[in-house]
Amino acid sequence: MDTKISEIADGIYRLSTYVPDIAPPAGFTFNQFLVLGDEPLMFHTGLRKMFSSNLDALKRVIPPERLRWIAFGHFEADECGAMNEWLAVAPQATPAHGHTGCMVSLSDFADRAPRQLGDGDVIDIGGKRVRFIDTPHTPHGWDAGVLFEETTGTLMCGDLFTQLGDDHALTGGDVVGPAIAAEDIFKYSSLNPAMGATIRRLSALAPRTLALMHGPSFAGDGASALRALADDYDRRVSEQMRAVLLGEAA
Ligand SMILES: [Fe+2]
Ligand SMILES: [Fe+2]
Repeated sequence: MDTKISEIADGIYRLSTYVPDIAPPAGFTFNQFLVLGDEPLMFHTGLRKMFSSNLDALKRVIPPERLRWIAFGHFEADECGAMNEWLAVAPQATPAHGHTGCMVSLSDFADRAPRQLGDGDVIDIGGKRVRFIDTPHTPHGWDAGVLFEETTGTLMCGDLFTQLGDDHALTGGDVVGPAIAAEDIFKYSSLNPAMGATIRRLSALAPRTLALMHGPSFAGDGASALRALADDYDRRVSEQMRAVLLGEAA
């Protein structure tokens, strides 16, 4: 297992592990993001089984003991499975997540007490500012949220825009079409009536970079991409509700 590392925005590094066996022949990536500052933060911990590979990659940028924050989008193995392994190699690091996730999962799972983040709360990591935004059940998980780094305009959007393949670390190409195709394949989202509005709300941040957990990072008009994704989820929810009303739901 080989984890590649690339800088996708000023001081933000993508640690990417490609797994060809998932959804072949395209395969699938798992990405973590290291945000440098006086108090470096990592978004996603990766799977426990990828920990040593991710650790080796991170060591190419900073010693792991410099990490001060471990954050992620929702409680799931690829997002936070290796949290306690990271806390062990980074003795000054604190896990950080939204109120729901801390109450439901981290209060038990995390080896150190988490910092609970409310919707819109900012962690000033010194040179960078990361804002937590609650996105419950979007794309899945009651505790779901994203992080927005304000100085670079980078939205660490977790599973939103999930796509197959491993073409680029950073692209200016289409990220909406591949995301729609991956949703058709995996059906990984918890379709809910608020989903389109939740994603559209993120477009107000006007992100210049979208940092995808599964796929390339995107440099460009993040607001338009988010609105297009929101429109597609509105379409899916409407179709599902229509099917329920007509008694045609699977
Ligand atoms: Fe997920
Ligand atoms: Fe994920």
